[in-house]
Amino acid sequence: MARVLAPAGTPVRFVDLWSMVPGLVFNRAVEERLEQAISSGGLGKTAIAFNSGRTGLLAILSSLAIDRPHATEVIAPAYTCFSVAAAIRRAGLRLRAVDLATDSFRFDKASLERALSTTTLAVIAVAPFGLALDHDWVVELANQHSIPVIEDAAQSIGTTVDGERLGTRTRIGLYSFSKGKPITGTRGGVVVTDDHNLAEKISGWRDHHASRRGGGLRAIVDAKAMWLLLAPSRYGLLRYLPGVRLGETVYNPEFATARIPGAAAALIVRMLSRLDRLTTDRAEIGNELRAALTELPLTPLTGDHPDDDRYLRLPVLARNENDRERIVTNLAHLGASRMYGQALIAIEDHQLFVDDQQSCPNAESLAARLFTLPTHPLVTAHDRQTIVRGLSDLTSETTESTVSIS
Ligand SMILES: Cc1ncc(COP(=O)(O)O)c(C=O)c1O
Repeated sequence: MARVLAPAGTPVRFVDLWSMVPGLVFNRAVEERLEQAISSGGLGKTAIAFNSGRTGLLAILSSLAIDRPHATEVIAPAYTCFSVAAAIRRAGLRLRAVDLATDSFRFDKASLERALSTTTLAVIAVAPFGLALDHDWVVELANQHSIPVIEDAAQSIGTTVDGERLGTRTRIGLYSFSKGKPITGTRGGVVVTDDHNLAEKISGWRDHHASRRGGGLRAIVDAKAMWLLLAPSRYGLLRYLPGVRLGETVYNPEFATARIPGAAAALIVRMLSRLDRLTTDRAEIGNELRAALTELPLTPLTGDHPDDDRYLRLPVLARNENDRERIVTNLAHLGASRMYGQALIAIEDHQLFVDDQQSCPNAESLAARLFTLPTHPLVTAHDRQTIVRGLSDLTSETTESTVSIS
């Protein structure tokens, strides 16, 4: 079987699989251990675990809405994971998608200022791909309207800004542990907050709306599949397995809400001890790739503090959609991949959006040109060289054809 690199991933060890088994029985105890491990690891004062990040986000929004029933809008970046939109819709709220600054994952400041109003329930500030995005200015703006900011660090657990971990820099943070995240339990999400009252509400919401627990066996089967198939010599087999897709996202507000299965919580607890090592190693690979792209007509995207970026995948902008398609088609076996193919405003659900939803040209341009390069520990130095050579060939081909056409 030909060598194929996953776009993202965290290797699961054989002993990890065994560590999940007691979680099948001691669900509650392992869930508590995970919540304590998050708190004691400096990842949030109070931690509340769920079966997924999107359930966590739903719990946050539903809990915030208790005190502000007339605030029906949630602000989120116009280019992000469709699950964010699904959680907003499921909470019965409206999404106000705000455009990004040009060629960046930061909110466009003027658009954000215009979007904030008395009907805004919360701002979701996302730090994608492990990027060290500084949301202080977002918090400052939102504070002027007494609106809370949720720091969505689903893809960025382990990244720090000014020495503080993302997820803990605002009143409310969110982590996800689904596949393709910095560390994984195959599924799972954790809400963190330093607001005691809000924590009580979120916990109460869980008791009422996510009290069921299940999926422990499935989590072990999934972890076993990751253990077997993440290796580049076997990853190509995934093509033949129905229903297994890394990094793809669909909009589905009908997602299951539940407590986290103990087996998944157990895997996350083990992986937390490797978090800093894994994220530092990814940063090194990402930085090496980023440096190698400087001569090419490609734009790697960084956070506000590039030295602190912990690239879960390295996000790169091609000059146009054609270039991007050529790259992801020709270098798919080297882990080059599209992310979300479209901006949130392309979702066909009119009840999702506020009535006066603006167009978001920067987010749409990003969606058309963005691809990512893999940074996980199975990407070798030789792979990196092959990736850069491939990108160089593909982009010089397009440069030549552009020249000959013009
Ligand atoms: C930015 C962002 N927020 C929220 C989520 C939701 O997490 P989960 O997949 O655990 O529901 C994801 C994950 O896909 C994400 O990337």
